Amino acid sequence: MNAFITKQIPEAGLQLLKEAGVNFAIADKKLSQEELIAQVQSYDALLSVGFVRADAAFLKACSHLKVLSLFSVGYDNVEIAAATRLKIPVGNTPGVLSGVTADTAFLLMLATSRKAFYNYHKILDGKWQEFDPVADLGIELNGKTLGIFGLGNIGYEMAKKCRAAFDMSVIYHNRKPNPAAEKELEARYVSFEELLVQSDVLSLHANFSPETKALFNKDAFGKMKRNAIFVNTARGGLHHEGDLKAALESGIIWGAGLDVTSPEPMDPANPLLKMPNVCVLPHIGSATVETRNAMAVMAARNVIAGLRGERLPAIVNAEIYQ
Ligand code: DGY
Repeated sequence: MNAFITKQIPEAGLQLLKEAGVNFAIADKKLSQEELIAQVQSYDALLSVGFVRADAAFLKACSHLKVLSLFSVGYDNVEIAAATRLKIPVGNTPGVLSGVTADTAFLLMLATSRKAFYNYHKILDGKWQEFDPVADLGIELNGKTLGIFGLGNIGYEMAKKCRAAFDMSVIYHNRKPNPAAEKELEARYVSFEELLVQSDVLSLHANFSPETKALFNKDAFGKMKRNAIFVNTARGGLHHEGDLKAALESGIIWGAGLDVTSPEPMDPANPLLKMPNVCVLPHIGSATVETRNAMAVMAARNVIAGLRGERLPAIVNAEIYQ
């Protein structure tokens, strides 16, 4: 039983692999697609960390794999239908990162509402001046309406925090209603249009797919409140960056907090980074010791199960077992 790992992961996962008798190698540099395909030929499992594009051609070239285990909850970089056709089980790490990813959304919401990153830079630039009653004012969140696009595990955690901290009311738009959130958080299902129109804070927690690609564009921003804060901790591809920048510049919306961009990494010269009402983080949603350990364990368990021919504990394409 052997596995190839595309990047170093926390020891907790490696330990589990060792205990299960899995021999593994970890890439010591970023490999091109061709190099990775060549490497993987002598392994039964691939533990994919970071952005590895597993499209139909890649999967076909690696069709011998007994498991493709992702070190992420998101699986938009994998052509799942192709993996399913080739009977390659794809595993991911849902659940364990919901709380901390929601923490990141909450952090960005609050930081944006008070122009925190911009004000911090003012200090670094020697521009901290005397008290000024009208300079760089933020907006308050208490009692405001939180709109969640994609109310799954992470969206639920974000809604819970916002209710507890700021008594915010919650509206959401999803593929299907979420009765638990409606009962426990008094969340109200609304149309996509209503979500845009009514939200004071609009936080994205949906998967990236052809249907959601650039859904938050000029048209969508144009329907939002002028004092709205847009938060994206899901995938950068969900928003159209040029349209977002234009909406912020012209005051169509008030601010934006982003943990994800497209492309990543963001160009350090990107004008969004200099805007007072914008806070950007470098995709750190799940970046805590506890969560990364838990993700490593989960990804390792998926590898071990796949190598043993067992059902993966966290499977994306469960239909392969039917
Ligand atoms: C995830 O788990 O999907 C995070 O965004 C890291 O890619």
